Amino acid sequence: MNPRTITLHDCSFSTYICEEEIIARIVMLAEQLDQAYAGKTPLFLAVLNGSFMFTADLLKRISIPCEVSFIRLASYQDMHSTGKVKEILGLNEDISGRHVIVLEDIVDTGHTVHGLLKQLADRGPASVEVATLLMKPECLQHELEVKYVAKTIPNDFVVGYGLDYNGLGRNLRDIYKIVS
Ligand code: IMP
Ligand code: MG
Repeated sequence: MNPRTITLHDCSFSTYICEEEIIARIVMLAEQLDQAYAGKTPLFLAVLNGSFMFTADLLKRISIPCEVSFIRLASYQDMHSTGKVKEILGLNEDISGRHVIVLEDIVDTGHTVHGLLKQLADRGPASVEVATLLMKPECLQHELEVKYVAKTIPNDFVVGYGLDYNGLGRNLRDIYKIVS
């Protein structure tokens, strides 16, 4: 990958994780999930907007029977999490007795996933696990078990491959990190 710097709004970002590495990690994740959920017909719950590319590339590589549904739960503005967790929008499936796998773009403080897991638990699923493309372990503020992580990264703000900076950058095929 040729190093590249881009500007989104007022910030510069440089290439960080190339598409090839992202896909290679997603292939490994899909293999893990295929094994763990064989015979269980899991329901993937993808958290919009950030996880749309990750969800598409992961689901194409899942070979066991499964379902996918998209929910919304925005709690992020600018570069700092507000810590507020909003209610789940768009969850029309009955998840009681289902094996649910939440798909996230990134786990940062963990507020979003923590709040989401609490709300999902009330609906009586057979199991709930989280699969995330990226995780920033240094930032985690909750006791959370994120069982499936494609890649852990340091505490840098990143964009691309679904992740945005104030709305921009979601369309980029590689992941970029902020130039500090
Ligand atoms: P958390 O609630 O602090 O774990 O934040 C999770 C959400 O914040 C993610 O679903 C993203 O939408 C957003 N987020 C966290 N870190 C980043 C980042 O580095 N770039 C873009 N969005 C981020
Ligand atoms: Mg998100």
